[in-house]
Amino acid sequence: VGDVSSLLIDQLGELVTNDPDRAGGTAPDADPRLGRVSNAAVVVQDGRVVWVGSASDAPPADERFDADGAAAIPGFVDSHAHLVFAGDRSAEFAARMAGRPYTAGGVGVTVAATRAASDEQLRSQVSGLVEEMVRQGTTTVEIKSGYGLTVDDESRSLRVAQQFTAETTYLGAHVVPPEYADDPAGYVDLVTGPMLAACAPYARWIDVFCEGGAFDADQARAVLRAGMAQGLHPRIHANQLGPGPGVQVACEVGATAADHCTHLTDADVSALAAGGVVATLLPGVEFSTRSPYPDARRLMHAGVTVALATDCNPGTSFTTSMPFVIALAVREMGMSPAEAVWSATAGGAAALQRDDVGVLRAGARADLAVLDAPSHVHLAYRPGVPLATAFG
Ligand code: NIG
Ligand code: FE
Repeated sequence: VGDVSSLLIDQLGELVTNDPDRAGGTAPDADPRLGRVSNAAVVVQDGRVVWVGSASDAPPADERFDADGAAAIPGFVDSHAHLVFAGDRSAEFAARMAGRPYTAGGVGVTVAATRAASDEQLRSQVSGLVEEMVRQGTTTVEIKSGYGLTVDDESRSLRVAQQFTAETTYLGAHVVPPEYADDPAGYVDLVTGPMLAACAPYARWIDVFCEGGAFDADQARAVLRAGMAQGLHPRIHANQLGPGPGVQVACEVGATAADHCTHLTDADVSALAAGGVVATLLPGVEFSTRSPYPDARRLMHAGVTVALATDCNPGTSFTTSMPFVIALAVREMGMSPAEAVWSATAGGAAALQRDDVGVLRAGARADLAVLDAPSHVHLAYRPGVPLATAFG
């Protein structure tokens, strides 16, 4: 940042660009959307990509980094994460692994701990998790509120989040907090009224957990419409724990993304495809709740854009690792390594309506992940091995 000298990243054994202009007939096993270049080089300057191509054609630059045959990909775009929280729920995880089911009620435990935490504790928690992400190749992260659930605790959650990313999401409608247990309508009024007014200045997105035990379709519509009226862009937690109206609400309001999408009807899949709504799959959740995985192939077959994200949160998916998510998507959801890498990069960018990340071409942000491996396939082939690092 601020450095205007140019840097040549040279001798990349494989470069995944996700550039549609480079897409097309490479090896039969690879997704043509990856726009792969072998024996590649990239020139970056002042935080932007200025040139991409074959190493043999690379223009001169002020400095040179020799990648020595390593692969590089666009940095991961983790489009769904709940990083602003305090407290520990490992006992709940252990109980689940011993057979107890997950319910949305566990959110309340984290809400109590988050309310009791200082601003500095929250900031340092987010900072630590973002550092973990960067060490694993993530260069863009979305961060939600949703564990404060008061006007002050939601707005401070977003002020903290905003220190780390431009992709901040107001999730005051995560669950109805205990003090409103007898008056959920009153809580929706708070979320769509004073809480929204306090949070909108710090948020780009509005989100709601549309699920049994959280908010129903009418409440979800009211929350999203209120946020949209304040200039926020809609996204939703939908169809996570069971079938439900979340995906239809997403399509109705024109949400950018519907996240989870684990329990879908044929009508849901068609609506996502017709509406151009990105389906963000979060297999860390199914792993950590020992539940059936979403059907990625069914969505892709219908022409739905699929994103992959961590959903990093203390309840259902306490991982910061996009490579872990890729490995799950490949092993458990039938995605090819190429499809999973695309969904974790370009898919995430689509879920955040960003055209400057998730792609490596002139003008895009200089956000790369360099892999300690010769190809993107190794991200799934070598699960649990720290191969990806954000470059720069
Ligand atoms: O995305 N679905 C709602 N929220 C989180 C889990 C929240 C929690 O259990 O703390 C999720 O899975
Ligand atoms: Fe979530």
